[in-house]
Amino acid sequence: MLSAAVLTISDKGYAGEREDRAGAVAREIAENYGFTVVYQGMLPDEREIIAAELKHLADSKTARLILTTGGTGFSKRDVTPEATLDAAERLCPGIAEAMRAMSMEKTRRAMLSRAVAVLRGESLILNLPGSPKAVRECLLCVIDELGHGLDILSGDAKECGSAADAGR
Ligand code: MTE
Repeated sequence: MLSAAVLTISDKGYAGEREDRAGAVAREIAENYGFTVVYQGMLPDEREIIAAELKHLADSKTARLILTTGGTGFSKRDVTPEATLDAAERLCPGIAEAMRAMSMEKTRRAMLSRAVAVLRGESLILNLPGSPKAVRECLLCVIDELGHGLDILSGDAKECGSAADAGR
């Protein structure tokens, strides 16, 4: 089983002024898709604090899949993508592109999402939006393929099968 961590980024959540429904949704979906959620946390919208936590979760090998929720919009306090890029060793833009392409069918405001996906060590860090509804839509859109990517990252899968094998 692959390990996962869920990190909610929210000033209000961190201050105890808002219930963390988005993190709970991300956790539930990850578990339904076979990930073991070994850590669930909450951080304020502070770039250095978020980046340090992401680096720690990857470098300590706590979690192979690190999901963040929140902080991807245009608010001046939204810095989750920048913190994620601070922790990045390599980029994997296709995952965020897939989420935005699907989300544009739901709301044209999806183009305002600044979410990124990156690799660090043997971990994939993926930004999700802040609302529980958007977390559900975005994570369900991509989670099926993440295990294969993580297997390639760790060397447990050598190459992709044919398009037919992948079911597409
Ligand atoms: N993606 C999906 N699938 N569904 C949504 O409702 N909301 C969008 C977008 N992505 C949305 C979505 C909106 S309104 C914004 S502002 C951005 O995500 C950023 O969200 P955040 O600020 O909550 O991180």
